[in-house]
Amino acid sequence: MEQQKLEKLLSKMTLDEKIGQLMQFAGHFYATNNNKDPVTGPDDLQVSSKSINYSGSVLGSAGAERNKEIQERYLAQSRMKIPLLFMADVINGFRTIFPIPLGLGASWDPMLVERAQTISAKEASSAGIHVTFAPMVDLVRDPRWGRVMESPGEDSFLNQEFAKASVRGFQGENLQADGERVAACVKHFVGYGAVEGGRDYNKVDLSERELRENYLPAFQAALEAGCELVMTAFNTIDSIPASGNQKLMREILRKEFDFDGVLISDYGAVEELIPHGVAADQKEAARKAMYAGVDIEMMSLCYENSLKELIGEGKVSVDLLDEAVLRILNLKNKLGLFENPYRGASIQKQNKYLFCPEHKEVAQEAAEKSCVLLKNNDVLPLRGGKIALIGPYADNPDILGEWSIFGKKEEAVTLKAGIAKHTSDYTYALGCPMYDRQETALTEAVNVARESTHIILALGEGSDRSGEGRSRSSITLPENQLELLRELKQIGKPITVVLFNGRPLDLMEVAELADGILEAWHPGSVGGTAIANLLFGKANPSGKLTMSFPRTTGQIPVYYNAYNTGRPLPEGSTERFYSRYIDTPNEPLYPFGFGLSYADFQYESLQLSANELKPGGSIDVQVLVKNQSDYSGEEIVQLYIRDLVGEVVRPVKELKAFQKVFIPANESKLVSFSITEEMLRYHHANLEFKSDPGEFKVLVGSSSTDLLSQSFYLK
Ligand code: IFM
Repeated sequence: MEQQKLEKLLSKMTLDEKIGQLMQFAGHFYATNNNKDPVTGPDDLQVSSKSINYSGSVLGSAGAERNKEIQERYLAQSRMKIPLLFMADVINGFRTIFPIPLGLGASWDPMLVERAQTISAKEASSAGIHVTFAPMVDLVRDPRWGRVMESPGEDSFLNQEFAKASVRGFQGENLQADGERVAACVKHFVGYGAVEGGRDYNKVDLSERELRENYLPAFQAALEAGCELVMTAFNTIDSIPASGNQKLMREILRKEFDFDGVLISDYGAVEELIPHGVAADQKEAARKAMYAGVDIEMMSLCYENSLKELIGEGKVSVDLLDEAVLRILNLKNKLGLFENPYRGASIQKQNKYLFCPEHKEVAQEAAEKSCVLLKNNDVLPLRGGKIALIGPYADNPDILGEWSIFGKKEEAVTLKAGIAKHTSDYTYALGCPMYDRQETALTEAVNVARESTHIILALGEGSDRSGEGRSRSSITLPENQLELLRELKQIGKPITVVLFNGRPLDLMEVAELADGILEAWHPGSVGGTAIANLLFGKANPSGKLTMSFPRTTGQIPVYYNAYNTGRPLPEGSTERFYSRYIDTPNEPLYPFGFGLSYADFQYESLQLSANELKPGGSIDVQVLVKNQSDYSGEEIVQLYIRDLVGEVVRPVKELKAFQKVFIPANESKLVSFSITEEMLRYHHANLEFKSDPGEFKVLVGSSSTDLLSQSFYLK
C-alpha cells in the first residue's frame, strides 16, 4: 500500500481504533480452543473481548491453522480491517532448535548464525508468525544472571557481528519477497545485561561511556542492518526505567540512531513504571511511555485505560498517538499484510519445513561448532573400549534450552542416542537425578563405571535453572552431581565430563577431577548426535568461549577487556598492595576466546606491513598458523588491540577482528588482517568518538590470553 493510502487509513480511524493498534495481548485471549501459549511473563492480566477486538498485535501464538483462524475472526468483526500482527519469541529456532545463543556465539561463525536464523524465519513464518523478538544482544558479564544464555557473550565487537547476522537471517533482503521472512526485534534496549548482582529486573547503572562503548553498538549494528523493531528493557538506566526513558528512546534511539521503526515495551513493562516508582498510576505510566516513544504496550493496559483521557485533557497530543499508530501500520504494510493478512501461514509449508532433514543438518552443524573443549588430558577423541555413560544428562532430552518454546523435547536426540550411532559397547546409568542424591542410582553407576574403560559423565543445570527470572547466587554444579563425580573419580578410570548448561559455571572442582571437559551448552534438537561426533572424533571441536568462566562466584564480573588499574599485579607476584584477590587469582578459570581442538595449532611470525599507520591508510597483519597434528580442524584466529595511552583509560585489550580458518592436518595457513584508523577510535572525555596518535599493541592468537604481539604507531 502506498504511504498516502496508509495516511488516509489513519485519518479514518477513531480514537479507540488507534489506541487498539498500540495494544498487544497473548494468543490465548484470541484462541477458540483451550491451547495455552507459552507463558513468558506474569499470567494474571484480565482482558475484555472488546480489547481483543480492537487490539493490533498478538503475542506468542503460533500455528498456520490457529493464526489464520484468529486473523479471520478478528477481521470479520473489525471495521477498519487492519490485520493483526503475530509476534513471538523465536530465539534459537522455531521447531528445529539450534544451540542457545551463548552456544551459537561460541561458534564465532556469523554466517552460520545467519543460516540458522533464515531457517528459523522459514519455519516461524509458515506457522503464521510475522515478527520475532530476537536478536537479544545484551552484553553479559555476570553469569549469575539467568539470561546470559540468550546473549552472544561479553564482547561488543562479537555482539555486533552476531546482531547483523541474525537480522540478515530473519529479514533477508526483502521482508515481503516470499512471505518466508520475519521482521526482527532487537532487544532489550538497553543495559539489561548489567543488572546489579545478576538479579533479574534489577537496577542498572552504567556511565554513558560504558553504555556507548559496550552496550549500544550491537543495537546500532542491528538497526544499520535494517532491523524493523526494538524492544525496551525492564531495567532502569540512570534511575529511569527504560520504558519511560526519554533520553534513551527519543534522543539516542530515535534521533541519534535515526530509528523510525516500531518500539515495543517488554511484557508488562509500561505498567511496571508504577512499582519502579516513577508513575503513580496507569495514567502516568501511559503518559511517560508515550513521551518516551513506546509504540506498542505488551501485556498491560495503561494505554487502553488512560490514553483517551490523557488526550482529552491535552496531556498527550493526537499527533503523538498518530505517530505511533502510523509506525505500526507501516510495519504491517512492509510485511504485506494489507494484501495478504495470512501471509506465509501455510499447513503445506509447515509440513514441508518444520524439523525437515535439511534444517536438522544445519542444527547439527551448529551444535558441533558451538561445543567448546575446555580440557583434554589426551582422553579425546575416544579410541574404542567400553564406555560407561552416566549422569542426569546422559539420556535426557532437556537439551533445547529455555527459550525454545515451540521446539519439542520428545524430538531431541539425547547423548545416549548419539553415542549409540557410534558404538554398542556402552552401558548407561543415571547416577543421580538432576538435583537429588539417590543411593541406588549412585551404586549402579559405580558398578557400571568399574566395568568400563572410559567414563562419559553428562552433568549440568536443567533448562529450568537458566533463562528469564532464573538468577543464581552461586553458579556451581548441583552438589549431588559433584558428589557423583567424586565417587566415580575413586574408581580410577578416565572421566570426560560433558556439560549441558545455560551459563558459565564455576568448574573448579570439575576441572580438578575430570580428564576431559566438553562444554555443550543446551545444544538443541540434534545435540546428542553432534556431541557424540565430537567425542568419537568424527568432528573436531572448534568452539571458543565468548564469556569468561570464573573460578568462583566472588570473581564476578570477570571479563577479558578489563582495565589495567593503577596497580596491576606483576606476573607471579603475591605482594600486598596490588589489584588482586588474596584468595584467588585475578584470571578466570577459562578466559574469553579459549577453546581446545584435537589439532595442535601453533602461531608463528606475527608480522606487520608497517609500524606506522597514517590517516586514511592501513597496516596489514599476517600470522602463520601451523596445524602440527594429524587432525584437520577449524581455528578461530583472534586479533586484539591495546591503546597504550588514551585520554581516558583503555582496556588491556579489545577484540577487533577474527577469522575462522580450516587448516588440514600437518598444514599451515597464513592468516591476514588489516588495521585501519577507524578500529582505534573510542569515546573521549567529552564522548567524542575519535582516535589519538601514539603507540598501540596488536595481539594475535588463539584466545584472549594466548597471544603474539607487535607494536605500531598511529601518526
Ligand atoms: O521477548 C520476551 C522478552 O525477552 C522477555 N519478556 C517477554 C517477552 C515476550 O515473550
